[in-house]
Amino acid sequence: MTLSPAWLDELRARTLLSALIGKTTKLQRAGREWKACCPFHNEKTPSFTINDDKGFYHCFGCGAHGDAIRWMTDQRGLPFMDAVKELAQAAGMEVPAQDPRAREKAERASTLHDVMAQAEAWFVEQLGRAEGAHARAYLQKRGISEALARKFRIGFAPDTRTGLRSALKEAGDDKLVECGLLIRPEEGNREPYDRFRGRLMIPIRDARGRTIAFGGRILGEGEPKYLNSPETVLFDKGRTLFNLDLAAAASRKANRVIVVEGYMDVIALAGAGIEEAVAPLGTALTEGQLERLWRMDPQPILCFDGDNAGQKAAVRAIGRALPFLAPGRTLRFLTLPGGQDPDDVIRSGGRTAMEALLETPEALVDRLWRHEEAALPLDTPEARAGLKQRLTEHSRAIADKDVSHQYFQDFRQRIDDKFAGPRRDWQPRTGGTGSFRPRKVQDRRGRWVDAPPPPHAATKALNQSGIGPIEARAILAGLIRLPAVIGDHAEPLSHLHFADPALDRVRTALVEAAWRGEALEDEGISTILRRVGGLDLLGKPGRANGLAFSFQRGNADPERARRDLGEVIDVMVRRSELDARIAEATARLADGTDEHAWEEQQHLQREKVETERRLSELREQAEF
Ligand code: UTP
Ligand code: MN
Repeated sequence: MTLSPAWLDELRARTLLSALIGKTTKLQRAGREWKACCPFHNEKTPSFTINDDKGFYHCFGCGAHGDAIRWMTDQRGLPFMDAVKELAQAAGMEVPAQDPRAREKAERASTLHDVMAQAEAWFVEQLGRAEGAHARAYLQKRGISEALARKFRIGFAPDTRTGLRSALKEAGDDKLVECGLLIRPEEGNREPYDRFRGRLMIPIRDARGRTIAFGGRILGEGEPKYLNSPETVLFDKGRTLFNLDLAAAASRKANRVIVVEGYMDVIALAGAGIEEAVAPLGTALTEGQLERLWRMDPQPILCFDGDNAGQKAAVRAIGRALPFLAPGRTLRFLTLPGGQDPDDVIRSGGRTAMEALLETPEALVDRLWRHEEAALPLDTPEARAGLKQRLTEHSRAIADKDVSHQYFQDFRQRIDDKFAGPRRDWQPRTGGTGSFRPRKVQDRRGRWVDAPPPPHAATKALNQSGIGPIEARAILAGLIRLPAVIGDHAEPLSHLHFADPALDRVRTALVEAAWRGEALEDEGISTILRRVGGLDLLGKPGRANGLAFSFQRGNADPERARRDLGEVIDVMVRRSELDARIAEATARLADGTDEHAWEEQQHLQREKVETERRLSELREQAEF
């Protein structure tokens, strides 16, 4: 079907975006726009905005951006056409007639959906009958309650060649064959017969919850363990995931999505209350599946068995994912111990055991490093150069320039640390144990950014130029108005050098007071200011270009002012850090020893421009 751009524009124009989003997300008015806590990532303060005039939403935190159709596909998880149809219906618009071939296909699909629904109902019915006793006992043995079996609409295919065929006679053999429910023998005029016999029937549903295929498990031992529907008009293996529909809804609440290897793992997890799990359908993760996963959560957790096959699958998934990594968009990995699968973990330790494991997934970069590092003995220069080359190739595979660069840097650092200077063992950064410094931290908007470097001598020296007096005064004025920010931001503030020594003394005094745990509200802060002679210094808060930050205005919304002040501090720290790194890269460029210095310097410059842009944005925002 072809939908003209004009028709789509009309559809967008007739859709009130805030009303659409407001159905599932709590909105607040913000001038002519709306604000909300972003439904695409986890946050406490709203950075998601909706502009009805323009028909767009945008999240300043995670970068989610789109129109009404995009909302339906990305947030609701609908395929494009379904999204359009639903919006058209709400807007009272008629979806233009399809071309005849597309219409025929759609009609065929809709009758096939009916057939699949009937088959599913029949399998469920068989499970309840006397013939299903064996299958019910099997479910019980596996710890699958009746309620859980109902939730997944599990059924049973009796061990006959004609059971389903005669029960669904009305649909006709052709339809049943097309659905993959009957097999039509190649030779001559032999009758079609039931594909699934003597198996537990697990329906595979599409994003809208319609059954499009089945996985049939043998009861007990035998080959194949699972017999799956063939690909049909309804079932495109590489574009769907088992439990996609329920997991999409659950992932929004849980703020995570878990990928496991098997049907039974998904079912066991759901039985234990972890409903946001999906499984590929007996194949390696495809690009289409990755895309679906990323629509649910930017950092899906891949939970694969610790055995060889599971670990191979993890590495293959990395290979597929690398080209599509983007800022904040990645994969995480959980390797299960002792040859267990999630079903085993749930059965032996319940939800608690699984949650404990899920707490410390491994970052993609760590998993990849671990794989490459373990691949060969690295006892010769050639082997080490080989490792470096492979890691460089992986970094190059990442299409996003910034992420690619970060990987490159990260790997280089690891190689340096491994082969040069005092040896130091790597620790997983997500372990939460020990005192290693994370190289990534989440900023206030939940984005992953480089952790500020430790203030070692070189960085300090390069930082000496410091923040100019106008910005320094603005920050101090903000801190005096909103002393709570000092405690919350003592760490970044301690890195934020002010060029003017007198102003810098005030900053240091405030940070030290926060560290000592002194009360900073009202009296507290005036005492400190008196002590360092800060009161006279501040005078009138300075304004750059006649613009001001929200926290410099007496009438600003305090919550907003606090948030802005926190962000300005973070961004300024980041900018100083970038200045230091740019200076360092420039020095390397000058001495001509580092072939990558230029690229790095350019990259850092771009990041710095980005911080300046954000600062001016925060300033302008204060004006309305
Ligand atoms: P596993 O062999 O790990 O199965 O296959 P499992 O999920 O642990 O199954 P149980 O617990 O023994 O019942 C993982 C997945 O690979 C696909 C299925 O999707 C299965 O869930 N598979 C496996 C097949 O499609 N066919 C097979 O014969 C085996
Ligand atoms: Mn299993």
